[in-house]
Amino acid sequence: MSSIRVVVVTGNPALPSRTRVLAQAIVDAIGKRVSIDTYFVELATIGPALGSSHFRKRLPVVAEEAIASVESADLLVVASPVYRASYTGLFKHLFDLVGLDALAGTPVVLAATGGSERHALIIEHQLRPLFSFFRALTVPTGVYATEGDFEGYELVSQPVRERIEAAATEAVTLSRPSGALVERLRAIA
Ligand SMILES: Cc1cc2nc3c(=O)[nH]c(=O)nc-3n(C[C@H](O)[C@H](O)[C@H](O)COP(=O)(O)O)c2cc1C
Repeated sequence: MSSIRVVVVTGNPALPSRTRVLAQAIVDAIGKRVSIDTYFVELATIGPALGSSHFRKRLPVVAEEAIASVESADLLVVASPVYRASYTGLFKHLFDLVGLDALAGTPVVLAATGGSERHALIIEHQLRPLFSFFRALTVPTGVYATEGDFEGYELVSQPVRERIEAAATEAVTLSRPSGALVERLRAIA
């Protein structure tokens, strides 16, 4: 069976990053279930290139390639730190440049890290509506972790690990849909 192309977008502007660690844990859980090819779009790396223009046609090649890879994913994993009660500005900038119909029917795992539990609903109130706009298939279980779920940059929380396992199972199920729903969504696009 062919591999699923998993594209991971991490919204942290710098490394090391708990968000990056969380995203890797999600990818690892998916990779335990199915064969995957993984491509990371890291704003910590491409941020300056991505931020250099509001217009896709004027972006440096590295940023254009990153956006094109997001658009061609079989499965997306998106993860951002909470900044000022939302995802980071560069994370939104990237998705402002993604084609309106490019993600229709694409399964998306939603993840975020924050300083406390107070902004855990970023998953439901900000990330999920953004991907609903794209008519993507957001995975029901979102993954949110706080600084207390890590020791340094190691994820140590068992409840967060359980949510990762649940999200991975759902993501794999959604990435092999019957086809009817995805075809319908792409036909509308
Ligand atoms: C500029 C800035 C704004 C932040 N705003 C929030 C916030 O509104 N709510 C919150 O819970 N944490 C906030 N934090 C904390 C980060 O979300 C948290 O430390 C996160 O895990 C950092 O992820 P990283 O290690 O991937 O950079 C903020 C941190 C920074 C640097």
